Amino acid sequence: MSSIAVYPGSFDPLTFGHLNIAARAAHLFDELHIVVVHNPAKSPRFSSAERVELIRASLSEAGRFGTPMPSSHVSKIVIDTLDSGLLVDYCRMVGAKALLKGVRNNADLEYELPMAFVNRDLAGVETIFMPANPQNGFVSSSLVKQVADLGGSVDKYVPSAVARALAASASNRKS
Ligand code: PNS
Repeated sequence: MSSIAVYPGSFDPLTFGHLNIAARAAHLFDELHIVVVHNPAKSPRFSSAERVELIRASLSEAGRFGTPMPSSHVSKIVIDTLDSGLLVDYCRMVGAKALLKGVRNNADLEYELPMAFVNRDLAGVETIFMPANPQNGFVSSSLVKQVADLGGSVDKYVPSAVARALAASASNRKS
């Protein structure tokens, strides 16, 4: 039986922190769904379609943070969106028994644990927590948006397609 995991998030936008988690998980599972989920608590900078496209364009840069994604692993990755409905229903639909979450610190764990309890309670879907790479453990999508908007370089924190998209969105917001 193949092992299928779902890696959900806002990915607004994808950072090297996210990409490193995906690359390491691609070693562990036969299929990994990176799912751009609509989070009603956040107003996204990029549309779901743009976020999917940025993820797709960035997979080849996973090696910049120590975990390259060979083509045999890239082919295990499905990039998808979930604009409404429960994540566990998506898991059921694709046959995934596990959710994957990257954890940078205690605050992440505190935020994630209630969701992990609920997802297990609702449908028996387990959550696997993977510690972030210490090199990019402080990187977040909201911080990189702020740095880019204020004219700073985000090249160390995000893949090049994301850096270009952030630069374009920063200049649109100024004009
Ligand atoms: O990157 P984020 O914004 O922290 O991701 C949060 C996300 C999208 C994973 C979370 O909001 C979520 O799981 N949404 C799916 C809706 C759902 O199933 N909710 C009920 C159980 S948590």
